[in-house]
Amino acid sequence: MTSTPLRYRAGSEAAPALLRAAVLEGLQSTPKTLPAALFYDARGAELFEEITRLPEYYLTRTEHAILKQHAGDLADRIGENAAIIEFGSGAAIKVRYLLSALRNASAYIPVDVSREQLHAVAAERAIEYPGVSVLPVWADYTEPFDLPDMPDSARRIGFFPGSTIGNLHPDEASAFLRRVRDCVGDDGGLILGVDRRKDPWLLNAAYNDAAGVTAEFNLNALSHLNREFRATFARAGFKHRAFFNDVASRIEMHLEALSPQHVMLQGTSVTFAAGETVRTECSYKYDRPRLDAVVANGGFRVAELFTDAQQWFWVAWLEPV
Ligand code: AVI
Repeated sequence: MTSTPLRYRAGSEAAPALLRAAVLEGLQSTPKTLPAALFYDARGAELFEEITRLPEYYLTRTEHAILKQHAGDLADRIGENAAIIEFGSGAAIKVRYLLSALRNASAYIPVDVSREQLHAVAAERAIEYPGVSVLPVWADYTEPFDLPDMPDSARRIGFFPGSTIGNLHPDEASAFLRRVRDCVGDDGGLILGVDRRKDPWLLNAAYNDAAGVTAEFNLNALSHLNREFRATFARAGFKHRAFFNDVASRIEMHLEALSPQHVMLQGTSVTFAAGETVRTECSYKYDRPRLDAVVANGGFRVAELFTDAQQWFWVAWLEPV
């Protein structure tokens, strides 16, 4: 299984080789797949923001509520003089609960592939938390990257909210956690956002919203492919499909061909039979045994779990083993 980036620098001169290889390999395999990184061009990033505000998409607001309620407990766990390393910081909103609750945090290290947003957000957080050194790192956090200099005495704490871990296959998730483990060291820690297994009706609704924003987000991957990879997908020839796969414990998003389709992509011809799908994303949903297994394979243990009243989402406090 090849590991693919969750995000990449869209709009670069040549689409990154790793992503191009993953696209070609995925479209030529059975069943067909596409890397979820294709969602996140500028339009896709806007659509995702819209998704986070949808009534059916409970994940974002539930995680906010847990972080708000338990920021003090997390701060107690972390102690003084921490350096918070956020993997894929984006707009760096959720970390504010933490930075506000921590006593004498020494550094905040946002890591992101979107250079402009990274520097804008770093400047904002530096003004907001004048005692904290804000040290942005422009990098793809799914690849190894160099950490900036920080005080040796600082306790390194990873922050990976949003249930983005769910978009990785469990083996990839453990491999990612092992890299985080190396990054935070033996006395570090990790705060991890995890979406929980729940009534499939709620899960299916969250990925099939009535307003059709998730469908647009899914189909936008084809527009992105046409633009960045000079592919010839007919968007109107495909429809959005998302469903909970109970055995694999994941939501699968697919694009289904409404009629036979023929697509050219960088000299390669790809055909779809009517009804055939290409899987565009998996979003794993965790129960305690599944979470414990992934975390243990990643070199951590679950030291504490914070949840909401409905028990839909976890903010996990992980310690290295
Ligand atoms: C980014 N990630 C956690 C989202 C999820 O729920 O798996 C992506 C998403 N896909 C469809 N809706 C949201």
